[in-house]
Amino acid sequence: MGYWLCATIGAGASGQLILALDKSNLMSDTANNEVIVDRFGRRFDNLRVSLTAACNYACTYCVPNGKRLQAAAYELSAQEMIRAVTLLQQTTGISKVRITGGEPLLSPKFGDFLQGVMGLGLNDVALTTNGQLLPRWSDAIIASGMGRINISLDTLDADKFRDIARSGDLATVLNGIDRMLEGGLRVKVNMVPMRRVNESQIVPMLEYCRERDIELRFIELMNMGHLRSSNTYQQQFFSMDEILELISEHCTFSRTDAPFDSTAVRFEIVGGGYFGVIANESEPFCRTCTRLRLSSNGHLYGCLSNAKSHDIRPLLEQSDERAQSAMREVLGQALRDKQDLSFKGETTVMKFIGG
Ligand code: 5AD
Repeated sequence: MGYWLCATIGAGASGQLILALDKSNLMSDTANNEVIVDRFGRRFDNLRVSLTAACNYACTYCVPNGKRLQAAAYELSAQEMIRAVTLLQQTTGISKVRITGGEPLLSPKFGDFLQGVMGLGLNDVALTTNGQLLPRWSDAIIASGMGRINISLDTLDADKFRDIARSGDLATVLNGIDRMLEGGLRVKVNMVPMRRVNESQIVPMLEYCRERDIELRFIELMNMGHLRSSNTYQQQFFSMDEILELISEHCTFSRTDAPFDSTAVRFEIVGGGYFGVIANESEPFCRTCTRLRLSSNGHLYGCLSNAKSHDIRPLLEQSDERAQSAMREVLGQALRDKQDLSFKGETTVMKFIGG
């Protein structure tokens, strides 16, 4: 129900209590469904849970000096994370969860969290991974009934792979992708195209994915973390238009529908197959963003382009009623952290909060 333009506490048309959180039009309809909505009609629906800040890669666009990211000093247990997801389901109707990192498969609690989250009755649980540890976890992932997985892969050239990830092994990732496909999961591959780094891989990657019925997502380089303090971002940024121009020399495609809150612009290839572009710069999507992020150390982030975070550890121990009320307060604040229009960049990197 669209109560978000009201500014006072009162009774709604059908008698529900309408609670105005403050004068900025953040509203909570406290009837049956808890919904906290902002003045653009945005609400949180889509939660990304970072299981650990640690990563076994040191990608050039994520960290400087080839230094791998380490786990946070304190990280939530699988049980605490499940408690947080449950509270978010109750207070803002989160229906989708994506497991991220750091690298989520590095975390020993991956198995417990996966089992717990699959039991919460969510509409969708998915995983984003670099694929390096899929040999260890693929049986558990397939057995869990998870339907979708995103695997990050920036090149099919083994040397280039090591230049970018500064760790890991290409063949292991490719085997992992095959294993997921055999297990019946829908696979998407994430690629960050960068000028003079891997732009020559755009078409080969598209062909590789098309042959396997994988949707390839090109992610425009985001100006995050250390990229902000050098001119690397300006040198390497490769735009959606440039990506499309390269692909158009190889095949014909047209723009097609994407879900309302999707971050990707989607294209259908004539002759079969799809690909997408997550065009943070070229076509910003903040206006329809429904994402909320939980970091491994128990902080909620309302926006990837805002370092502001909200520590929810204290409320995880409270009784249901008190925790729900405190959570609603936090959600109102986190919703205010979103950008109005477009991604502005931040010092935060994906390490804490996943993609
Ligand atoms: N710009 C674009 N994509 C990035 N990723 C990590 N850092 C950046 C960045 N600065 C990607 C990873 C992964 C996804 C979660 O985000 O490659 O595929």
